[in-house]
Amino acid sequence: MKLPRDVWIVSHPELLQRYGRGLTAALRKADWSVNTLAVPESERSKSLATAQRVIERIARQAAMRLPLLLALGGGVVGDLTGFIAAVFRRGVPYVQIPTTLLAQVDSAIGGKVGVDLACGKNLVGAFNHPRLVYNNLGLLQSLPLRQRRSGLAEVIKYGAIADRTLFQFLRRRLPDCLGLKPHAVKLMVERSCRIKAGIVSKDERETSGLRAHLNFGHTLGHAIEAAAGYRRWTHGEAIAVGMCAATEMSVECGWLSATEGEKLIRLIQDAGLPMQAKGVSRRIVQRAMRYDKKFIHGRPRWVLLKGIGRVQVTENLPPMLLARILPKYVPQP
Ligand SMILES: NC(=O)c1ccc[n+]([C@@H]2O[C@H](COP(=O)([O-])OP(=O)(O)OC[C@H]3O[C@@H](n4cnc5c(N)ncnc54)[C@H](O)[C@@H]3O)[C@@H](O)[C@H]2O)c1
Ligand SMILES: [Zn+2]
Repeated sequence: MKLPRDVWIVSHPELLQRYGRGLTAALRKADWSVNTLAVPESERSKSLATAQRVIERIARQAAMRLPLLLALGGGVVGDLTGFIAAVFRRGVPYVQIPTTLLAQVDSAIGGKVGVDLACGKNLVGAFNHPRLVYNNLGLLQSLPLRQRRSGLAEVIKYGAIADRTLFQFLRRRLPDCLGLKPHAVKLMVERSCRIKAGIVSKDERETSGLRAHLNFGHTLGHAIEAAAGYRRWTHGEAIAVGMCAATEMSVECGWLSATEGEKLIRLIQDAGLPMQAKGVSRRIVQRAMRYDKKFIHGRPRWVLLKGIGRVQVTENLPPMLLARILPKYVPQP
């Protein structure tokens, strides 16, 4: 694999302090030229404005040389860098070094890249695979508890949609998972990556409906993030609420037993993830759901469960079900 030797590391200031120096030194020692570009730590960096700023910096400094972009960070840096790599000069190569649990198990793989708009998540983007994803489990040890929990939400999602063994492991060994004990991290990252890669390799562009399974909890989750202005809620927290609502809908539709539903909701609760999105306007959440890419011909497409480890996708939810359930998950004062 031949890659350009002009590396642009895109990251956050704190991560550059912590891990960027060692990486830069190692690359320079191997004769690569290295530049760093810091973007603020926030979902709000996943924007067209930030993308433009970064692109203009690289364009000015890289001149005629082909850059290699390197995303060092979580899903925000990864999605943003992958998007820039897709559009700058109609495409330049990029590499992912994910540093959050969420990015290692989910966002760094699969090639979905993009930025948010005020009205909805990930509304501008592309399919663009990195040349390499380098998962170094050691990088996760500095993750604060809130970010561990947030990543765990996506791991719980994989267990719920496709892997009963992983689901059982999470239930039995939750403290090890949250504590990022080496055996637990290895198992979570390996199994999650295998599930995601398996799904993406069969339905890369989300045409057959299989890739949509990965959106369990995301219809409501994305709407909560957008309604809160991409502040307050991490992605994992928002989808945790979304998974609770989707679990209750699955039970109400008669596809998931009440016992299995309770196990899943208990796991989300025990992981320290929220089960309700307090403090966001339900009206704005409902409006944000309409911008969701999962809306087909004006109807929401819901990813529900047909038992732990099995998915049921539906566009025919009983009309009043969402209206009945939503107040529990997005309560108003
Ligand atoms: N492309 C996809 O397929 C896909 C899939 C899932 C999620 N996503 C996106 O990913 C984003 C969320 O990603 P995230 O949860 O990684 O959030 P994030 O990128 O905002 O990172 C969370 C926080 O952790 C800090 N951090 C990162 N690595 C650290 C480390 N090793 N030690 C200490 N602190 C560290 C960051 O600076 C940041 O403050 C959302 O925008 C979501 O939409 C994309
Ligand atoms: Zn997600």
